Amino acid sequence: MTILVTGAAGFIGSNFVLDWCQQYTEEVVSLDLLTYAGNLENLSSLNASPNHHFIHGNIGDRELVSQLLKKYQVRAVVNFAAETHVDRSIHEPSDFIETNIVGTYNLLESVRSYWGDLDEMHKKDFRLLHVSTDEVYGSLSKTDRAFNETNSYKPNSPYSASKAASDHLVRAWHQTYGLPILTTNCSNNYGPYHFPEKLIPLCILNALNGKQLPIYGDGQQTRDWLYVKDHCSAIRRVLEKGKLGETYNVGGWNEKANLDVVKTLCSILDELKPKADSTKYESQITYVKDRPGHDRRYAIDATKLERELGWKPEETFETGIRKTVEWYLANEAWVNHVVSGDYKNWVQKQYA
Ligand code: NAD
Ligand code: DAU
Repeated sequence: MTILVTGAAGFIGSNFVLDWCQQYTEEVVSLDLLTYAGNLENLSSLNASPNHHFIHGNIGDRELVSQLLKKYQVRAVVNFAAETHVDRSIHEPSDFIETNIVGTYNLLESVRSYWGDLDEMHKKDFRLLHVSTDEVYGSLSKTDRAFNETNSYKPNSPYSASKAASDHLVRAWHQTYGLPILTTNCSNNYGPYHFPEKLIPLCILNALNGKQLPIYGDGQQTRDWLYVKDHCSAIRRVLEKGKLGETYNVGGWNEKANLDVVKTLCSILDELKPKADSTKYESQITYVKDRPGHDRRYAIDATKLERELGWKPEETFETGIRKTVEWYLANEAWVNHVVSGDYKNWVQKQYA
């Protein structure tokens, strides 16, 4: 049997597939539309693996997804596929509605049909794990408690509204049709293969290239950061032990103000790659216009996942952020392909 991972060429999806293939021999089918955020180079170390199959396609393509589920006798689907950047969703929401809502709906229908035809034993063991975000809960005030699974949904951006809608669809397919689903709502990830439109990779690369490090507003918005490999281990744990129909918040208790995150990156870079002119990277910090509707504070209470499923993150923010900076410094070729926008051509040439 096999697992199907959607959005597998993106940041978290590719980390998840790489970790999975390192730990298990079970086959993995990676499905990805290869949008601007999908990068096959992330999975290139699996090219020779007989257990990994990459399929270029859309979660909304029912015929394709149905074929894959049957052909590979899929026992679990992990759905990472989404449009994910808040700023892009503000600028142009349509792809977010199409993939995150309509795409998830079509995926649910393909899975429901396949699952309905399974024999009783396989039906009982089947799982669909939907990967979601803490942004569905909206914004916290300074004194609010961290989000737990009982918080109501109050999404504020087109991105978070589209993810909230997808979570509701997933929940409804469980309540109405009995589809065996699990949902995870995770805080901000960081780590290898992160596309440099997001704060941490953007600032690492801008710092190295002598560009501005753009801080929205006053930089005192807080996010709760989790090293991507810890998110992946949480998903594996929920897939293995999670209670059907439940949602699990995932986070590492690492709430930080954006400005502090960027200053931390700067000081690690000062140490690992000091500037030739001896100035500090911090001098590149520039305050810019705020994001419209910018959520002030996110914080995740991961007690349920820790207590009920015994999950714990391995990295602290300090260890994870250092590993991340080191990864970007060590992976110049990946960075160059992504920054030049040339990574799709590069992959085609390498693997034609
Ligand atoms: P990403 O943007 O790096 O990757 C998304 C991937 O999905 C890309 O490879 C893209 O090509 C693919 N994709 C887009 N539309 C598709 C479609 N219609 N069919 C198939 N593939 C499609 O995103 P990410 O940061 O890796 O996030 C993955 C998931 O985790 C998303 O669902 C996101 O909402 C969720 N999440 C992300 C974070 C975070 O901090 N990055 C935190 C919590 C939850
Ligand atoms: O909370 C989980 C979410 O984290 C995921 O669901 C999203 O897919 C993921 O993109 C991320 O959303 P954010 O909006 O929090 O991430 P981003 O890296 O875009 O921004 C992090 C914070 O930094 C946010 O408060 C906005 C701010 N920011 C961002 C950028 C890109 C800046 O100050 N300057 C910037 O240039």
